[in-house]
Amino acid sequence: MKTSEDWLNINSFDAQTLEAMLKLRGEEANALHTAARECTQQFLGQHVFLRGLIELNNACRKDCLYCGIRKSNDDIKRYIISDEEVLAATEFALENGLGSLVIQGGELNSEAWTSRITSLLEKINHLTGASLGITLSLGEQNAETYQSWLDAGAHRYLLRFETSDPKLYASIHPDNDLHRYDERFAKIELLRNIGFQTGTGVMIGLPGQSYKSLVNDLITMQTIDIDMCGMGPYIEHHNTPLAKIDDQWLSIKERFDVSLNMVAALRLMMKDINIAATTAMETIDEDGRIKAFRAGANVVMPNITPSAYLDSYLLYDNKAGADNHRDKALSIILQDIALAGCEAGLGLPGHPLHFFRKQND
Ligand code: 5AD
Repeated sequence: MKTSEDWLNINSFDAQTLEAMLKLRGEEANALHTAARECTQQFLGQHVFLRGLIELNNACRKDCLYCGIRKSNDDIKRYIISDEEVLAATEFALENGLGSLVIQGGELNSEAWTSRITSLLEKINHLTGASLGITLSLGEQNAETYQSWLDAGAHRYLLRFETSDPKLYASIHPDNDLHRYDERFAKIELLRNIGFQTGTGVMIGLPGQSYKSLVNDLITMQTIDIDMCGMGPYIEHHNTPLAKIDDQWLSIKERFDVSLNMVAALRLMMKDINIAATTAMETIDEDGRIKAFRAGANVVMPNITPSAYLDSYLLYDNKAGADNHRDKALSIILQDIALAGCEAGLGLPGHPLHFFRKQND
C-alpha cells in the first residue's frame, strides 16, 4: 500500500497511476487524501476561500439531458433575480467576509440579458469599491460578451466541459448546434485568451462513463491548464431523460468515493489551482464538504441566493441546502471548515495562485 509520503513524492502522474488512484477505497484512499491535503497546505496554506453563490436565473436555452433546469422541463417556475436582490446578497457577502461572489445561472444570450449582466457587474463594483472577487458562470457566450463582462469587472469564469469523451458528451446532450463538444472547448480556450481566471469541471459517475474516461478528464484539465475546478458526482433529476435510462455505471456512494479521489488526484497534479468542494458532494454525504477539504479542496460556495428562489434551482434531486437561509448556509460551512482543520479565508478574494504563476512564467 502507498503511504501519503509515497504519493507526495510522485511528480508526474501517468494514466495507469491515475486510474489506480481513482479506484482506491478505505485506508488506501485515506492515504491519498491525506497527501492531497498536505500538498494543499504546502502550496496554498490552510485557507478555504469563500464565494457567495447567487443563482441568478433558472431560465435556460439549453436542453442538457441530465439537468433539472433544462429548457424542456416545464415543471418548474422560471425566475430571474432583480438587481436589488443581487445587491442585497452582495451586502451580506461584504458584511460576512465572503471575499468573492459567484453569479451562476441558466444560459441566456439575448442582447438585453448580456447587457443587463454588464450593468449588474458595474453596480456590484460600485457598491463594493471593487473589493470582491467576481466569478461568472453563465454558459457559452460570444467573445464580445465575455470581453464586456471582463471589462465590467468580472475576474473568473466557470464553464465545465462535463466530460472529455466526445461520444459521452454527445450521449448526454441533444444533437444540435447549441450543444457541441468542440464548441464547449473552444469557449474555454476563448475565456483563457481573453484573460479570465478560467475554471472547468466534470460530472462523475455518468451512465456510460468509465475510469479511463475520468483519467482523461484529469489529463485534459492539466493540458488546457485550468486555474480552477469544480467537479462532483452526477445525481439523477427525476424529470430528465438521463434519469430515465436504466444504465448506472456507479452507485451513488461510489460516485462520491470516486469524486473525492478525483479531487485528491487533481490536487497532486495541479498543486496551485483552486478546487471547490461542491454541493453535489454534500448532497450525497452529509460530511461531503469536510471530506472534500480533507482531500485537497480549498474553495467553497455558501449559497446566498434569496430563499424564495432556492427550490427553483434544482439541477438534481435532493440538492443539499435547498431549504437553508443564507445565515444558516454560511454558519454550517464555517463549522465544516473548522472541523476539517482548515481556516476560513474571511475577507480574502482567494484568486487562484496558478493564474498569476502562469503570467510570471
Ligand atoms: N448532477 C450533477 N451535476 C449536474 N449539473 C447539472 N446537472 C447535474 C446533475 N444532474 C452540473 C453540470 C453543470 C453545473 C452547473 O451543474 O456539470 O455544468
